[in-house]
This record gives sequence, structure tokens and C-alpha cells, in this order.
Amino acid sequence: MVPDIERDETPWVRLDYKTPPQEAKKLLDFFDRFVVGQEKPKEKLASKFLTYKHGLNKEDKPAGVLLFPGPSGVGKTSMVKVFSNFLFGSPKTFTRIDCAEYQESHTIARLLGSPAGYVGLWDPDNPDPSRKGIEPQLSQWNIDKFGYQASVPNEVKQRKMRLTEELGKLNQKLQDLKDSQVEGPDDEARLISAFNLSLGEFKKFQAEIRQLDEKYPYRPGGYPAILLFDEIEKMHHEIVKVLLQILDNGMVTLANGKQTILRNCFIFMTSNVGSERLAELLENRGVVGFRTRTVEKIDQLIYKTTLEEIKRSKHFPTELIGRIGKENIMVFRQLKEPEIRKIIDMQLEQAREEIMFKKKISFKLIYDQSLKDYLFEETSDPLNRALGARPVEKIIEVKIIEPVRNLLVKGAENAESGIVANDSVKILAENNEIIVQRASRTPNAV
Ligand SMILES: Nc1ncnc2c1ncn2[C@@H]1O[C@H](COP(=O)(O)OP(=O)(O)OP(=O)(O)O)[C@@H](O)[C@H]1O
Ligand SMILES: [Mg+2]
Repeated sequence: MVPDIERDETPWVRLDYKTPPQEAKKLLDFFDRFVVGQEKPKEKLASKFLTYKHGLNKEDKPAGVLLFPGPSGVGKTSMVKVFSNFLFGSPKTFTRIDCAEYQESHTIARLLGSPAGYVGLWDPDNPDPSRKGIEPQLSQWNIDKFGYQASVPNEVKQRKMRLTEELGKLNQKLQDLKDSQVEGPDDEARLISAFNLSLGEFKKFQAEIRQLDEKYPYRPGGYPAILLFDEIEKMHHEIVKVLLQILDNGMVTLANGKQTILRNCFIFMTSNVGSERLAELLENRGVVGFRTRTVEKIDQLIYKTTLEEIKRSKHFPTELIGRIGKENIMVFRQLKEPEIRKIIDMQLEQAREEIMFKKKISFKLIYDQSLKDYLFEETSDPLNRALGARPVEKIIEVKIIEPVRNLLVKGAENAESGIVANDSVKILAENNEIIVQRASRTPNAV
């Protein structure tokens, strides 16, 4: 029976679909700890991750596809590192393809392996180790390895490493004994004499490794993974076809005919396309610099210009943009003054940890506001401006970490001329110069 809508007395409640679920909030909070600003890309990635986690993404496509165009040094690569940290607990657990190294068509072999008949053909099953060839970047294991390793508990990994190491030593010793050609006792007896170990124990080690492997079997293609194509506009157009294949059906065929499944893989692409034209445009309009009041307008200009440039660029064929999908193009924005200042604060804190941790020494380190202002001025210097927040790290290294380390070494030589444990140290800037002060150690000193 068709329900009578007119007489439907069900009370309907309006639902809020705009605020993200709690689960997304956790991920967004994590992103916020490491990447300043760039809210839209963060939200998009969080939503893609949740869709994947709950098995709601398309089955015949990669887990997520995002293109990050935008100026230099504004957090594109950082975002991928943070996502890797979120998934696997390390910012390094992802495959990075530096497209600048794939500008010639023959470099495709590094991604897919060499075609049959070529030197270096990848043949993992060849029993001769010297003929196994080079494993291509897009082999199934290369895609899966971080996810697989993250799925095995640490204590199991450590145990396996120890067993493998022990076995390696035993094998080596056994080999040495064989090589020495001493006639007489069999392998077991040799082991007993060399290590006081029976062959039974040797086999027990092997069996334990096998058991551990069986408990955590490797399931090809079954782990979340991250693949980053950095500076995609530099890639040769023949290699772009590989990417099209991946985006199309979440798989790629290697040179040896094997297929790599990328359906649990998040694919990121970054690009600086449009940055030059943008820089010119901003310069011409006199809106360069972080302290301009027309920030919103600049944002719109950046978004529009970047999309136009992507469409015009011969490096982004229509079929590539079509496969990525316009809604998955997340333009990264120029960082504004408060954002750069926040990054400076974050990195100063990191510098503090680094100094104390490396030197295993504890003292009070105060950063004066004048220092923070000085660092900000340095990043907006004409030479640095086009580099976003990238120079912050270097400036802090040179202007703060190095001088403080120097004073720590001096302190170890002669306490009076440097810093020692429990000192209070203040860093400030005066007339464009960094000044390091130490509180007097005698309480009543004038
Ligand atoms: N939004 C940000 N939040 C925190 N740190 C940032 C941000 N943007 C840049 N940084 C700092 O600048 C450095 C460079 O940033 P990142 O590698 O993410 O740049 P990018 O956008 O990938 O630039 P490029 O296009 O030149 O590769 C980072 O290591 C980080 O220290
Ligand atoms: Mg980058």
C-alpha cells in the first residue's frame, strides 16, 4: 500500500549532516597538531578516510584520490606525512614518487619493472639472488609493506628479528665450518661443538619464525597504503598513463604481467602548477605579503587561477582531471601571518626538545617575543617569501639551535662562559641580531 503522505503523522526530525562525526574530529585534531591552517584539505581527507574505514568507498577504485596544487612550502607534503603518522605511527611510512625523476619515458621501468629480455628484469622467484633483479616501486609488496608491518605487533617483530639474527649467525658459523673442510663430524656435531647447541634447537628457531609468520600472514593488497606523486606536472606523459590506469580500476599491471592491487591505497598528487603565474599576479596587484587585508580575495584568486592553470596545462590532460574529479582538487592556500607565527611557535618548541634531548641536559629556555617577531620578519624577507614556511626550520637551526649548542659546549669547558644544567637562558632579538642571555647564578647579583 502506498503510504498516505497527507495523513502521515510521523514526527520528522531534521538532521545535521554538516558537522562531522566525532570520529572525524579525532582525525582533524590530529592533523591540527602538525599542520597549521589548510582546513578544507584536512576535512576532505578526514571524510575520505572515514568512508574507507567503514567500507563505503567504491570497490574498484583506490581508497582515496586527492590532488593538492598550491604554492611552495604551505603544507602539501606535510599533510601526507601526518596522514602516514596517523595510519602507521610514523611520518615516513608511505611511498613517494618524485615525478621530477620520471621525466623520460624509459624511467617507467623503475615504477613497473623492466620488460622481459632487458637487463635487470624483476624476477622475484629466481633462486639465484643475483638474478632477482630490481623490485619496481609499484610492486605489491612495496605498496603493502608499511601496512603489513604496522599490522604485526612490535614484540612479535622484535622476536622475529632476534630469531632471524640468531639463525643468521648460526648459519654463518656452519658455513665457515663447512668451508674449512675439516673432515669428520656431521652438521649437528659441528653445531654442538661450535655453540653448544643441538640441531634440534636450530630447527626450533626456524619453527618459531614460521609460526610467527603463519600467525600474521601477509595478504597481498590487503593493507591500507599511501602513494604520493610529488610534483606531478614533471612526469612524462607516457608515465601519466600508468596513473590513469591506477585511478581507473585501482590496479596496475607490472612489466612481468603481475598486477598490483591499489584498492586500499590513498593516492595523493601535488603540484606547483599555477604558482608562477600566481606570484606574478599577486606581485602586480601589490598584494604580496602576509599582512594584507584582502586575504579572502587572495584566496579566491589563488583558487580560480590554479584551476585555470591546471586546465590549461598540457601536463594535466582532460582524462587525468576527469579521473581525479574536480571535487578532489584541494588547492592549498598561501599561509597568512597568524599561521606562519603559529608554525614558528611549533618549531621553536620542537627546537627546545631537540636541544634538551640530544644533549641530555635540562635548563630553562625562554623565547622572548622579540625573537618570534624577528623570525617572522625573516620569513617575509623577499628571498624567502615564495617559500612559504619552508625557511622557518632552517632559520631556527642556524639562528637558535646552533648558537645554543655552541654555548653548551662552551659551558662544558668552562661553566662561566656557557650554559650548564639548571641555568635559565633567554633568547631575544635586538637590532636584527640574536642575543642569548643567561640569568645570573648568584641569587643576589646585581
Ligand atoms: N601548514 C603548515 N603547517 C605546519 N608546518 C608547515 C606548514 N606548511 C609548511 N610547513 C613547514 O614547512 C616545511 C615545508 O612544507 P611542505 O613540505 O609541506 O611544503 P609543500 O607544500 O609540500 O611545498 P613544495 O611544493 O615546495 O613541495 C615543512 O617541513 C614544515 O616545517
Ligand atoms: Mg612538497
